[in-house]
Amino acid sequence: MLPERDEIIAFLKKHISIERLIHCERVEAAALQLAGKFGADPARITAAALLHDVCREHSPDLLLQLAIKFDILIDDIQRAEPLLLHGSVGAALVESELGIRDQAVLEAIRHHITGASSIGALAQLIFVADFIEPGRTFEASRVLRLKAPEWEADQILLYVYNQTLRYVVERDYLAHPDTVMGRNELIRKGVKAH
Ligand SMILES: [Fe+2]
Ligand SMILES: [Fe+2]
Repeated sequence: MLPERDEIIAFLKKHISIERLIHCERVEAAALQLAGKFGADPARITAAALLHDVCREHSPDLLLQLAIKFDILIDDIQRAEPLLLHGSVGAALVESELGIRDQAVLEAIRHHITGASSIGALAQLIFVADFIEPGRTFEASRVLRLKAPEWEADQILLYVYNQTLRYVVERDYLAHPDTVMGRNELIRKGVKAH
């Protein structure tokens, strides 16, 4: 059983700003629009999209503390960039505080920042929706909003992986292996972004 939308919103208001909450609602709307293409269930989309950034405003120190409390394995990249933990910590938090046991929803929250290989349709969709929501004003997001209606789910997903990697490479940030592995899985399937 997933919590009602009102309960989710009340919970979010305790953790994030109104601006962030509006971002989460835009992710929900974007994900619902692409639901048919990815084959995900609307109730799960609402829960995962609204809750994906519940820990996005936690400090790096708090994220590290909560990761330890929730027994989350912290990898090298997350140790160097603790903000990358807001997905895994968010999933653990909604499991413990809201009693969410739905594995697809937890997976989508956990992997929304970097993507990953072998994730389900809901997790793929939330990773994409976080990138494509209309509050994202950068060029690649604008391009994808135009192209998404005519592209297949895998092609959209590959585009997001490519742009996510491009983003970290251009800024000399660390690339997370989950992003590379998520992308490789699509390339091996023969998916082409263009
Ligand atoms: Fe996030
Ligand atoms: Fe987000």
